[in-house]
Amino acid sequence: MSGLRFDGRVAIVTGAGGNPGLGRAHARLLAAHGAKVVVNDLGVGPDGRGGRPARAEAVAEEIRSEGGEAVADGHSVATQDGAQAIVETALRTYGRIDVLVNNAGVVEFALFEQLTPTDIEKMLGTHLMGTIWMCRAVWPHLKNAGYGRIINTVSGSLLGARYASVYGAAKGGILGLTRNLAIEGEEHGIKVNALAPGAATVAWQTMSAEEARPSPEILAKLSPDLVAPTAGYLAHEDCAVSGKCIGSEGGNIFELWYGRTSGADRDVWTLGDVEQEWSRIVDRTGFREIGDPFDGCGGFKLTPRAYRPES
Ligand SMILES: NC(=O)c1ccc[n+]([C@@H]2O[C@H](COP(=O)([O-])OP(=O)(O)OC[C@H]3O[C@@H](n4cnc5c(N)ncnc54)[C@H](O)[C@@H]3O)[C@@H](O)[C@H]2O)c1
Repeated sequence: MSGLRFDGRVAIVTGAGGNPGLGRAHARLLAAHGAKVVVNDLGVGPDGRGGRPARAEAVAEEIRSEGGEAVADGHSVATQDGAQAIVETALRTYGRIDVLVNNAGVVEFALFEQLTPTDIEKMLGTHLMGTIWMCRAVWPHLKNAGYGRIINTVSGSLLGARYASVYGAAKGGILGLTRNLAIEGEEHGIKVNALAPGAATVAWQTMSAEEARPSPEILAKLSPDLVAPTAGYLAHEDCAVSGKCIGSEGGNIFELWYGRTSGADRDVWTLGDVEQEWSRIVDRTGFREIGDPFDGCGGFKLTPRAYRPES
């Protein structure tokens, strides 16, 4: 077993009641390495409708039977009150929070115009708002402790995938949140990274059409247990990076990042100029990497006016 341990650390893993599920794999790995884990799951399953219900208590019990420490939590990440209640479960049971793995999610694969407003709001509410509410709920505790690790789950679909318009939008939003929180967390010892997983989970088994379902051999190579070590590494004290997006699928672990071209420069632009310069604008020769959020977007630094809260 790895020398990296989580003794004395408390982790919340959301959406960890599915079996097989990524959250369950993360929770079990953290607990096997000494963390006390809050196994959260609303129990609704991949599409949020309860067809294949997840069971947080079953995963918590599994961890305890393996000698680990875990408590189940059934609140929803999708509301501010629900997120607060999940954090309360951690504080009430274990007295602290060190790690948050935002993993809960629901997905509907459909053409953009087919998605109902309810399904659109369900996906944005669970993935994007759920991640925002959970980060907000743990933030003051991590800030006070001067330490924290947050792992936000994204998806390759943030770069574009068929039938994944709103899901991909939610995941793109989560990556933006991750990179921006990494900047805010830096001075407080809080590292915030994104994980782009690929694994054969309950979601995979239920959401793809029968004819598009991967073969049992391919599914066997896509165990969530292959992804959990990456989540564990990003959750560990020794993890020095922040604002990164690390992918992990089928035994391949990699980094996703942004880049920008050198572009074209003029003091004045007309519509015709843009047309004329297009090939230079998009010429990726000698492109500049925008690896970490700290590299900045073109060196632009914003100094906000005094904030005027609106309630
Ligand atoms: N499986 C993959 O290949 C893959 C690929 C890319 C991204 N992801 C992401 O990884 C994460 C886990 O995916 P999975 O495949 O294990 O899915 P899964 O459906 O098996 O697990 C997600 C869990 O979230 C729970 N959940 C849903 N709404 C909730 C809410 N409001 N509050 C708390 N829990 C809630 C569900 O009950 C479910 O158990 C998701 O964010 C998903 O978008 C998965």
